[in-house]
Amino acid sequence: MDLTPGSADELLGRIRVQGAGDLPRHVAIIMDGNGRWARERLMPRPFGHRSGMKAVREVVEGAVEAGLEVLSLFAFSQENWQRPRVEITALMSLLEEYIAREVDELRERGVRVCVLGDLERLTPAAASAVDRVVGETEHNDRLRLNLFISYGGRAELVRAAQLLARDVYAGRLAPEDISEAEFQARLYTADCPDPDLLIRTSGEQRISNFLLWQMAYTELFISPVLWPDFGRRELFEAILDYQNRERRFGRVSA
Ligand code: FPP
Repeated sequence: MDLTPGSADELLGRIRVQGAGDLPRHVAIIMDGNGRWARERLMPRPFGHRSGMKAVREVVEGAVEAGLEVLSLFAFSQENWQRPRVEITALMSLLEEYIAREVDELRERGVRVCVLGDLERLTPAAASAVDRVVGETEHNDRLRLNLFISYGGRAELVRAAQLLARDVYAGRLAPEDISEAEFQARLYTADCPDPDLLIRTSGEQRISNFLLWQMAYTELFISPVLWPDFGRRELFEAILDYQNRERRFGRVSA
């Protein structure tokens, strides 16, 4: 369902005309609808995830073209560990496959990949693929691609609280010096700007435990498109929509 007429390249041209000042620095995406996409085709759910991998590739390409600084993708939540074993195995293998296929291109395009979440739970093969892509792209600075894997927003907040408590206990930090800045410095995203725009696909209107602290003032864009059908054009449409909004951060208009 296209809300904005024009091809992907026409929309990209319009984003550029609007000017860099209005461009979101950080776009976060909850990639949803793989299962429904597969079901519509009478196929098993992992088929939808595999098709979703192509959408990841397109969106990363679009993010580089549009000039975003950070793209955050919610690829696997902590709750996803409760899915059937066969689906978890398929998702872990897809992560390995995605990295094996894309690492060269990501490096050449200047993409720095960061993988954020409770990575202790990954299979050894997935963990070594993650180490490879993180290591091989760490000096890039054109786009930062955050892949959230085995991630939960509440767990991230608890982890930050534990890190703060440890510093207080060790005498490195006074309790009265705990501030928003100190808290933020202990999140996985400590060195990233907060997301300006969150896109959720498949029409669902929830945050689903993603980036709870970071999304305090994030603009939301709900796309009806199922993730495997999402691509550059849909990304550009969301960015254009964002560029036409007024952000007030709790203040009144100028
Ligand atoms: C949600 O759709 C999607 C996921 C849980 C996994 C996302 C994974 C990919 C897009 C592919 C791999 C990505 C990388 C980065 C390698 P759902 O299964 O909840 O769909 P449904 O709501 O229609 O059931």
